[in-house]
Amino acid sequence: MGLRRRLASRWDSIAVDRALTVARRGARNSDASSAALADEMISSTFTLKKEPQSWSPADRERMWASMPTWMDALFEDVDSIPEPAVTAICNAFTNLYHPTGEYPPIPSLEVVTTIEDQFHRLYYHHRPRAWERMRYRGHRILKLPSDLWIYGNIIEEIRPGLIVETGTRFGGSALWFAEQLELLGHGRIASIDIDEQANRPQHDRLTYMLGSSSDQALVDKVKPLMPQDGSPTLVVLDSDHSYGHVLAELRLLSELVNVGSYLIVEDTNINGHPVYEEFGPGPMEAVEQFLSESDAFEIDESRNIFHMTMHPRGFLRRVH
Ligand SMILES: C[S@@+](CC[C@H](N)C(=O)[O-])C[C@H]1O[C@@H](n2cnc3c(N)ncnc32)[C@H](O)[C@@H]1O
Repeated sequence: MGLRRRLASRWDSIAVDRALTVARRGARNSDASSAALADEMISSTFTLKKEPQSWSPADRERMWASMPTWMDALFEDVDSIPEPAVTAICNAFTNLYHPTGEYPPIPSLEVVTTIEDQFHRLYYHHRPRAWERMRYRGHRILKLPSDLWIYGNIIEEIRPGLIVETGTRFGGSALWFAEQLELLGHGRIASIDIDEQANRPQHDRLTYMLGSSSDQALVDKVKPLMPQDGSPTLVVLDSDHSYGHVLAELRLLSELVNVGSYLIVEDTNINGHPVYEEFGPGPMEAVEQFLSESDAFEIDESRNIFHMTMHPRGFLRRVH
């Protein structure tokens, strides 16, 4: 029973997530074979009993035994299921996995957006401000912890030979990047700032560079650091967040980024996206302008996995 219960809760998140994926696909297309599959699934599995609470032990055994087959068939093969079938599947999943009401229902999109934005405002504005209190190994680092996790995922995946960070400040983020590279045993980081600062952390993989990140002469000094072994360069923009400066950085530094690698524009959340409304045009607006000038990059929304990032629409992946 213990194992079965654990299995049920594991299936829960996976199943609901995938059912929603199917629902989204179903909304786009439909075809006869997927419709038949959905019908079969519903009739053979979920209409076993209307109320899962009233299933007999034998019913439950049968349902559990057939489940992997249905999951495989449904999620491997189906690109499209008609919307009514999808709705039925989603309802069935909900009944199946939430029969006791043990889990709260997923709120509407409006409610989710409100929760996300209000938490974002709380994190960003409420004093003492959380992002100003973050430290990494004794050094201040002006980040959201879950954004670092996203960076960690990207770094593991693309294994950059060079990370270029604009905006060093206290050096906490530069050290964090250096240590991620150390874990991989590969790569270097160049961190650029217009100002010097005492007591920045040191690391064998870290090079500090002094100057403006919108200065072509400085970018020319970065180029010799680019990897010679074919590994990619990753660029993170976190310096002056004014529209003009970020746009200049995008135009200059985008050329260092390889296809498949990322150009991450930080703090696209300001100017009311959803914080710091009075800032004026900034990183978000610079991204919009940059993307209208070039089709080399696409916004990778899939990176925003934690319901909140300080860089909404800021994870740009090079595609050409
Ligand atoms: C937001 S802080 C960087 C925070 C750091 N990346 C972190 O996460 O801990 C911005 C930094 O950009 C620097 N900066 C401002 N204008 C710059 C420019 N034109 N070129 C390079 N750095 C600049 C500032 O001196 C400041 O240290």
